[in-house]
Amino acid sequence: MIGTGLRGQSQLGPILSRDDVDLVAICDTQQVMLDMALAIIDKAGRRKPKTYGGNGDVNAWRKLLARTDLDAVFIVTPWEWHAPQAIAAMEAKIAVACEVVAGITLPDHWDVLRTQQRTGTPYMLMENVCYRRDVLAVLQMVRQGLFGELIHLQGGYQHDLRGVMFNNGDPKQPYDSGVEFGPKAFSEAQWRTRHAVERNGDLYPSHGIGPCAMYAGIHRGNRFTHINAFASKARGLHDYILERLEGGPNHPNAKVVFRLGDLVTTTLRCENGETILLQHDVSLPRPYSLGFRVQGTDGLWMDVNKSVHVEGRSPRHRWEDAQKYYDEFDHPLWRKYADKAAGAGHGGMDWFVVHAFIEALKAGDPMPIDIYDAVAWSAITTLSEQSIAEGYRTLDFPDFTEGKWKERSPIFAFNDRY
Ligand SMILES: NC(=O)c1ccc[n+]([C@@H]2O[C@H](COP(=O)([O-])OP(=O)(O)OC[C@H]3O[C@@H](n4cnc5c(N)ncnc54)[C@H](O)[C@@H]3O)[C@@H](O)[C@H]2O)c1
Repeated sequence: MIGTGLRGQSQLGPILSRDDVDLVAICDTQQVMLDMALAIIDKAGRRKPKTYGGNGDVNAWRKLLARTDLDAVFIVTPWEWHAPQAIAAMEAKIAVACEVVAGITLPDHWDVLRTQQRTGTPYMLMENVCYRRDVLAVLQMVRQGLFGELIHLQGGYQHDLRGVMFNNGDPKQPYDSGVEFGPKAFSEAQWRTRHAVERNGDLYPSHGIGPCAMYAGIHRGNRFTHINAFASKARGLHDYILERLEGGPNHPNAKVVFRLGDLVTTTLRCENGETILLQHDVSLPRPYSLGFRVQGTDGLWMDVNKSVHVEGRSPRHRWEDAQKYYDEFDHPLWRKYADKAAGAGHGGMDWFVVHAFIEALKAGDPMPIDIYDAVAWSAITTLSEQSIAEGYRTLDFPDFTEGKWKERSPIFAFNDRY
C-alpha cells in the first residue's frame, strides 16, 4: 500500500480480514502514518510489512514498486500522486487499486489510459459508493426495468468537509480542531484544501457519477457526449476560518482567497439521450447526502428522502418508502456477503470494493470498474474546471474508449462472486 493516511488505514480493515492477501509492504512519507498503520496491522495479528519512507521522501514509493514479489498495490495518496504512481506500477506489471481520482490534467488521464492499454496491467478505480447497498438495489431495479427507460440521473458529493479541510495538526484531533491547512495541518487538510484555493470545478465527481454511470451503462452501449459546469460564489471556507475561535479576521488564513465555488453544478448529456446532474458541495453546513435521483419513463428513486414512485405500483402522485424496494431488490452480493462486510468502512461498501478487486484479479477477469470508467469519471473534474474557466461553455466529452463503448456489454455487479 502506498499512502497509509486515514483512508489507507481504514482500508486495512477489509484487506487484513482476508486470508488470501499478504500485506508485505507499506509506504508513506510520514512516520506518524506508518506507525498508525503498523499498530492496526499488529492488532489484526498479521505479519509486520516492510516499511518505506517515513522521512519525508516523496519518492520512497519507487523502492516499494521495485520489489519483485508484488501482485498488486493500493494507491491511497493525495490526488496529484495517483497518476504517476499508477503509471509506474502498471509499467512494473503490478496491478493497481487506485483511490478515486485517476489524475489531475486531461493529459494525465490519457497517460494513465495509454499505459494500461500498452502494459495490459489490471487497473481498478476503488469507487466504493457503487457498492452501497441501496445503490446496488437500485441497479437491480434499473436492470429489471422498474423505472422504464432512463431519462435523468443525479448524484454528487454533498458532504460538509470544513472540519476535515482544516484542523490543528494534531493526529489525535483530525476533525474540527482548528483552521490550519498545508504543512501545519494533519491528513487531508495538508493537501486537499490547497485544491480549493487553486481550482474551481467538481473536484470529487466519482462518488456521484460512479453509480449514475453504472445505471446508464456508460462505456457499455452508452457514453458521455457533452459536459458543462457552473460554480457559485465561494463563502463557506473563508467564513469557517472567521467564525472559529482559533481563527478570526486576524488569522493569516483569513486572507486566503478560495477559488472553489461552494456549489459546483455539472451537467452531462449521454449518447442515449439521458441527462446527468452532479453537485459538489463540501464547504457549507449540511448533513451528508450524495443526492441520488434515478428517473425513467415509469418512475423514480430519490435517496435524500429515501423514496420511490413507480407508476402503476405506487399510489398516484405519492412517494413510497424506498426501504421495501431495497429489501425486494437487494443485490445478490449483499445477500451473500452482508455479514462479512459488517464493520467495514462506510456501512460495509468498502469491504465490497476491496473484495471485487482481489477476486477479479485472482480470476484474471476484467476489472469491474475499469480504466475507461476511471478516466472518464475522473476527467469530469478537469472538464468542469475548463467549462467554468471558459464562461460555463459546453464541451464535447472525450471518448476515451475510441468507439469501443458501442460493443462492450455491462459486467459490473453481474455475478454473485464480486
Ligand atoms: N473512497 C473513499 O470513500 C475515500 C475516503 C477518503 C479518502 N479517499 C481518497 O483516499 C486518498 C487518500 O486520502 P486520505 O483521507 O487517506 O488522506 P491522508 O492525507 O490522510 O493520507 C494520504 C497519505 O499519503 C501520504 N503521502 C503523500 N504523498 C506521498 C507520497 N509521495 N508517497 C507516499 N505517501 C504519500 C501522506 O503522508 C498521507 O499519510 C485520496 O485520494 C482521497 O480522495 C477516498
